[in-house]
Amino acid sequence: MNRSEFQQLDGEPIIVTAPGLPYPLVLIQVDVETFRAVSAKCTHLGCHVRPSKNFLVCPCHGSTYNLEGEVVRGPAQRALTIYPVEVKGDEIRIII
Ligand code: FES
Repeated sequence: MNRSEFQQLDGEPIIVTAPGLPYPLVLIQVDVETFRAVSAKCTHLGCHVRPSKNFLVCPCHGSTYNLEGEVVRGPAQRALTIYPVEVKGDEIRIII
């Protein structure tokens, strides 16, 4: 993905897919140069969380995570997996 495409979305967290991963990721802009990729697979029973401006919410049983992937409301007990992100020029690359 290109950084310019992301910025057209006003920096809101977005769902992206990565080849070889069986679940989507949420791409979050931390600051101008820094991005975070968080697994969208809820650690409760595996539904896919949905991003909002400040939280990632699971539609199945209501688990809520902050944008660092930490649980702020159960039933999930474990944080979401974080993947490193490289930014080179305009390119945003998630390292899987
Ligand atoms: Fe996400 Fe149950 S699968 S809260």
